[in-house]
Amino acid sequence: MKLDPRQEKLLRLTFLDYQQTSSFFANPLVVQRASGLYYWDVEGKRYFDGIGGVFVATLGHGHPRVLEAMRRQMEKLSFAPPMHGTADVTLDFVERLGRSTPGNLNFIKPFSGGSESVEAALKFTRQYFKQTGRPGKYKFISRYQGYHGATFGAMAASGTGKRKTPFEPHQPGFLKVLPPTYYRDRFSTWKECNRFCARQFEDVILGEDPDTVAGVILEPIGNTGGIITPTEEYFQLLRQLCDRHDVLLIYDEIITGFGRTGNMFAAQTFGAIPDIICGGKGLSSGAIPLGAMMAREDMGGAFYGTEEEGVNFAHGHTFAGNPLACAVGIAVLDEIEEQGLAQKAQKLGEYLAARLEGLKKYGVIREVRGRGLLRGVEFTKDPNTLEPFPELGKALKRTALGNGLILRVDPNWFAVGPALIIEEADIDEMCDLIEQSLVQALAQVR
Ligand SMILES: Cc1ncc(COP(=O)(O)O)c(C=O)c1O
Repeated sequence: MKLDPRQEKLLRLTFLDYQQTSSFFANPLVVQRASGLYYWDVEGKRYFDGIGGVFVATLGHGHPRVLEAMRRQMEKLSFAPPMHGTADVTLDFVERLGRSTPGNLNFIKPFSGGSESVEAALKFTRQYFKQTGRPGKYKFISRYQGYHGATFGAMAASGTGKRKTPFEPHQPGFLKVLPPTYYRDRFSTWKECNRFCARQFEDVILGEDPDTVAGVILEPIGNTGGIITPTEEYFQLLRQLCDRHDVLLIYDEIITGFGRTGNMFAAQTFGAIPDIICGGKGLSSGAIPLGAMMAREDMGGAFYGTEEEGVNFAHGHTFAGNPLACAVGIAVLDEIEEQGLAQKAQKLGEYLAARLEGLKKYGVIREVRGRGLLRGVEFTKDPNTLEPFPELGKALKRTALGNGLILRVDPNWFAVGPALIIEEADIDEMCDLIEQSLVQALAQVR
């Protein structure tokens, strides 16, 4: 599509997330409507949405059950007082989400997105240790290449260099280790590499002094690092070492939650339950901003006391627990469970992975990674030297858009994460578009 002079002028008066507006001018996308698996731009061109917005539209765009739930709630109550009251539907949401969380992660606070949920989890963790007799525990260990949000605490926990350096210095007390993909070529097996990387968390805890370490936070499948998918044992080792040192394990499931990896949460997919889960994105299927912090019920108990004790969580947002958002969240969770969408994601995810593996015939794919309906494909210029091939990704971004396909390209890998309502025939349509776009991109760069 082409931008008209008014749109160009207006784009200079705003900004697009994490990208240069001038590059966007060369390859713009201004959407006007969406339905199910598709977007339409302002010129009427249709796009297959291969990433469900951005891992958001769990049930596809404009799902009737979601819209109806919002409409019904809108007629009753669209805003509730956040400090001096709450809403009945907000409490219904707490109960509904608590029924879907693994373990006893039933202490739930709804927020307006992923960053807010992470920010809350970091503050909750620090305050928890302060009022349970371990006030020296305040540090967090996370991973380079991880992303936890754009606000200052979430950014300090993130490990994405260029997204952070303009805002340095960051908060002290945020330490990092590297994800398994970083070390994979130094080990003969992926399993061994994962063991080494899990133990690095413990090395840092010991190096820092366990009495100062509060939490380990990571995405079960790391998106910004290229759909980094550790072994199940990696998470079991993390669970054990956190228990050994009285450190809380926090999963950022803002992308992996709500059915995407084949279970309601990736915690279940990988078989190791954390102390806190942060959710966002797919929880509202994109109909309205919604996120949630889900913590162990007994931890919530540490924040319940008398006025004199003053142990309440010192935190809040005007739109946290918004009635419209909570009504939407309940509808999304009901639909995922009633339609068995997590199980469907597991089954169709295998089909999607097999189709993506088929792209290896072009000799430029190093690995296909992921679980369920969250998959990533890493490029290489040469399967023998394993040299990266970012030029191919940059070209693919252009050709895909030209062919009416939206992917997440970064640029040495691309990811797909379609709505969980997708069927096998839709996966075929998406993968045919990927293949066609890849062949055209290859022709441009070779
Ligand atoms: C893994 C992860 N955590 C946190 C966030 C931040 O969420 P939000 O953009 O809703 O604040 C994102 C957003 O992309 C994310 O991918």
